Amino acid sequence: MPVQPARALSDLLARAALRLYGAEHGAVDPMVRRSKHGDLQANLAMGLGKRLGRAPRKIAEELAGGVEENDLVAAIEVAGPGFLNVTLETSWLERAAGEALASPRLAVPLATTPDTVVIDYSAPNVAKEMHGGPLRSTVIGDALARLLEFRGHTVLRQNHIGDWGTPFGMLIEHLDDLERVDPEAAARQVSLGDLGAFYRTAREKFDADPAFAERSRRRVVSLQAGDAATTASWRRLVDLSRTYFEAVYARLDVTLRAEHVRGESFYDPMLAPLADELLACGRGVVSDGAVCVFPDGFTNKEGAPLPLIVRKADGGFGYAATDLAAIRHRAGVLGATRILYVVGAPQEQHLAMIFAAARALGWLAGGRPTRVEHVAFGSVLGTDKRMFRSRSGDTVRLVDLVDEATDRARAVVAEKAPDLDLAMREAVARAVGVGSIKYADLSSDRVKDYVFDLDRMVSFDGNTAGYLQYAHARIRSVFRRAGEGEAAGAIAIEDPAERALVMDALDLGPTVESVDETLEPHRLAGYLYGLAGSFTTFYERCPILKAEPRVRASRLALAELTARTLETGLGLLGIAAPARM
Ligand code: ARG
Repeated sequence: MPVQPARALSDLLARAALRLYGAEHGAVDPMVRRSKHGDLQANLAMGLGKRLGRAPRKIAEELAGGVEENDLVAAIEVAGPGFLNVTLETSWLERAAGEALASPRLAVPLATTPDTVVIDYSAPNVAKEMHGGPLRSTVIGDALARLLEFRGHTVLRQNHIGDWGTPFGMLIEHLDDLERVDPEAAARQVSLGDLGAFYRTAREKFDADPAFAERSRRRVVSLQAGDAATTASWRRLVDLSRTYFEAVYARLDVTLRAEHVRGESFYDPMLAPLADELLACGRGVVSDGAVCVFPDGFTNKEGAPLPLIVRKADGGFGYAATDLAAIRHRAGVLGATRILYVVGAPQEQHLAMIFAAARALGWLAGGRPTRVEHVAFGSVLGTDKRMFRSRSGDTVRLVDLVDEATDRARAVVAEKAPDLDLAMREAVARAVGVGSIKYADLSSDRVKDYVFDLDRMVSFDGNTAGYLQYAHARIRSVFRRAGEGEAAGAIAIEDPAERALVMDALDLGPTVESVDETLEPHRLAGYLYGLAGSFTTFYERCPILKAEPRVRASRLALAELTARTLETGLGLLGIAAPARM
């Protein structure tokens, strides 16, 4: 039997409905949820009443009487128009909590049909600063990658970095110019790998100097033709940039590594054959000299079909061509059964067109059809609700955000935990600094814009990383005071606060399953916040260390279950839970 009360009750009621009303009518979702009346409430009688043309109350009574022998349900009551209010057997809950505690994964169910999931996330552009967009993609994508892996899916991270295309003509030309004048200065400028400033200068030169612009355009052609010197300069820029990204990921405690980089350049050799193939099979159409595909259902304001441009009229290839090659590779070569694109909301139409084209071309119809989903997110706004900018008006650099969050966290930690030694305080400040940036993002509905407010983010009050990390550390401190090695005992539920805490802790599984399905990490964040609140209520009502030995052992077990649930949940969000702070 599952340890999740709602799941166990659902199973029981689903079987009862099938027995009573047959496969034709009785195959329904029991619609079980938490309730103030008893522990759980099931609302299936309303829908069944409608289907069967009978009074829901009557159905509810039949269901209440028709549930098979079990050790889960202590009492079922029919209420109102036909709700079923269910009180669970305390002994069942105690056993389930014990089982969760004994399980290294807290009894969170593994996926029944594991997917091969490709997650396209982070995807910064080489030679542009990592800012708000990549930040959100990195944070959201990494949380989803961790969570899906925890569920037992095979996760293939694909960092679709922008390492190809027209900007490189200008960057390489600029690099060459600098090197002719002062090789050492040139090396210094690019060695940081944070090529933002380098990019800006190149761009200004490009806009101001037509001769430079012309040279840059010719450079793109040389690059695409594989000219050796040009390719060497390109490699140098890309490699430096990749090293820099890796440092940022390490700093952010993000699981992306060198082997996950599948930049746009990777697909370049596939593009010309793709264009030819599409032309040959008649799916590619020449329009104004360009090879295009026109996925069904996309038109412009005038009603004319919208193209995905595969090969431009000048023979070059762009973003859409690369994404077509990428989706085909992911489904066909990597064998993805689910592909997630963690990309900003403005690219919705582009991706919808890529998905539609891939489907029409039969690329997603493997033995098991491939689901493709755009995990969209909104913009990062400043506290003035405008696009997030630094004081000088530039886009804000990601590393600067992390530094600043860590600085603020350092101050808060120094005040909260003055007795920690310096090294420990520094470790906690980093965990809180990084955690607060991630959590602020992950705790809000991702499709909405979110306001980047450092003061609020690093606070230990409210729905923040610091609050949850502190809640976790406080529980660990109870254990330290209890004495090393004191074993938590069997869980015995007496107080209503203990019961509520157990019910909450056992909700981790369904919460994780719902994030797997919806790809909405804020459900997990909200769950953890609720759990921390339930623990506070429990802690205020139920003394742990002062209780008599049997109760003390049970409450220590409840504390342990809560701490591990918080730690596991935060871990799935990519947030560390220090034991002391
Ligand atoms: N580098 C792109 C950008 O900055 C994001 C790439 C997203 N992934 C994709 N397969 N298109 O907009």
